[in-house]
Amino acid sequence: MTLTDEIIKLKKEKRAVILAHNYQRPEIQDIADYVGDSIGLSKKAMEEKETEIIVFSAVDFMAESAAILNPDKKVLLPTLGARCPMAQMLTVDEIKRWKVHYPLVPVVLYVNTLASAKAYCDICCTSANAVEVVESLNAETVLFGPDRNLAEYVQRKTGKTIIPIPERGFCPTHLLFQPEDVQMLKMKHPDAVVMVHPECTLEMQNVADFIGSTSQMCRYARESNAKTFIVATEEGLLHRLRKENLGKQFILAYEDAVCPNMKLNTLERLYTALKEEKHVITVPEPVAKRARKALERMF
Ligand code: 13P
Ligand code: SF4
Repeated sequence: MTLTDEIIKLKKEKRAVILAHNYQRPEIQDIADYVGDSIGLSKKAMEEKETEIIVFSAVDFMAESAAILNPDKKVLLPTLGARCPMAQMLTVDEIKRWKVHYPLVPVVLYVNTLASAKAYCDICCTSANAVEVVESLNAETVLFGPDRNLAEYVQRKTGKTIIPIPERGFCPTHLLFQPEDVQMLKMKHPDAVVMVHPECTLEMQNVADFIGSTSQMCRYARESNAKTFIVATEEGLLHRLRKENLGKQFILAYEDAVCPNMKLNTLERLYTALKEEKHVITVPEPVAKRARKALERMF
């Protein structure tokens, strides 16, 4: 039996589902029950009523959100060290410091945060719904973290005053994209459509034809009549884009745009995680209770 067959067999025996983020390795995406962006994965985790085990092939904060929203299920992260560095950039102490200066200003946190930080915010958002979440608030000023680029994107879209916390939170992978590279690629492919993730810099956002979350990019590419796309997000998304759009061409805007943390999950580690039922992600209930409220408000 191949490793893939073994995983499928184990999955059935244990009544488990595999949820994989759009940045996972192709072989993991191909074996997953569902592949999606962070909001899609959270929703899917909640819909899995019959399931006892969720193998969440992604990074720490995504598995934590699934554990918060599904306290009755076992949530497994294949690699314990798969941590999003951006999520580590905002601590509870930092949020408290900002709240001293702006006690009446709501705190909106990107889901790319640790559960402990989510417990201190008013509402969560993802890159797919950040604009709607901020628009829904009855406030003209908002504390927003940890991604400064997403904060700037939201400020431009809503016209509200967005205060980034911390001042310069960022995703190291999305920072790799530069508009000069896009301009070079456009010289070779003048009809190409440029899709950019809002974690990219404002300069990159300025050269985009479409800005959205990973799954929003997939939908846009499916519905577009264009034949060539320049893509500014982690390279894993290109597997899904190519699979769903035979006959269309997808070019990564920077060829080394890899999230090393996402790539820590391998088929072998996923197999071991399922077999040994590790690494179980848990969030202490007092923290989970407050973080759950912020996630549920977003939904
Ligand atoms: P998406 O919600 O767009 O999938 O983004 C998650 C992420 O970590 C992007 O770097
Ligand atoms: Fe975090 Fe960036 Fe990796 Fe997404 S791509 S998980 S934001 S480091």
